[in-house]
Amino acid sequence: MRGGSWLDEAVPFAQWLEADGTCDALEMTAGSSLLNPMYLFKGDAPVEEFAQVMPPAIRLGVRTVGKRLIRTYPYRDSYLLEDARQVRAAIGLPIVLLGGITDRAGIDRAVREGFEYVAMGRALLREPDLVARMEADATTPSLCIHCNTCMPTKFTGTRCVLVDRGTTRSADWGQSSSLLCATAVRASPGRVPGAVPAAAGADADSGG
Ligand SMILES: Cc1cc2nc3c(=O)[nH]c(=O)nc-3n(C[C@H](O)[C@H](O)[C@H](O)COP(=O)(O)O)c2cc1C
Ligand code: SF4
Repeated sequence: MRGGSWLDEAVPFAQWLEADGTCDALEMTAGSSLLNPMYLFKGDAPVEEFAQVMPPAIRLGVRTVGKRLIRTYPYRDSYLLEDARQVRAAIGLPIVLLGGITDRAGIDRAVREGFEYVAMGRALLREPDLVARMEADATTPSLCIHCNTCMPTKFTGTRCVLVDRGTTRSADWGQSSSLLCATAVRASPGRVPGAVPAAAGADADSGG
């Protein structure tokens, strides 16, 4: 769809999906992996890292025009919350809040705002046992710095590159043989069949 769809179209679309009666829950997302990837991730675009995984013929092009072509947006925690609120107000279906959920405070905030689930991508790529540790200590901070250099690793084996540099709490973490994208975590008692309890995980890749 040229120009994408915005909230004025996304909200009625969510209402149609609810009326259809076949959805258990909706997961929030934004942007386009091809046309505007950093709108979903926020933060810096890893242009050089993308160039390195491209075939030599287009590597130079990515290096030369990548910075100009890929628009960036500042990162902040829970960055899709404002938009997701508008969907939350319009439908009764359980909603999975996604985007910059990194700590217990972010999860608690999502619960307070009426979201039944949160999905966590990069924070769990950085530290796969983060949810369990947050359960034990609600003040546990995430070690993910949202540098986004894990993005191009989806072509070579998805991993957190900082883990490779030995800066994690465990040397084995941060690597995923499958395409780990986001893990849905139940933030509050919900009614989604097959729901994932807080300390376990399930892929929530939308494949985009
Ligand atoms: C390495 C990596 C690969 C990803 N690949 C995909 C993908 O193939 N399809 C998709 O819809 N989202 C993909 N995502 C996006 C995540 O599902 C998620 O929407 C995004 O990371 C924002 O959540 P976060 O702030 O918790 O990381 C990927 C994310 C990362 C970090
Ligand atoms: S490379 Fe690691 S620290 Fe950087 S954004 Fe990805 S998961 Fe977070």
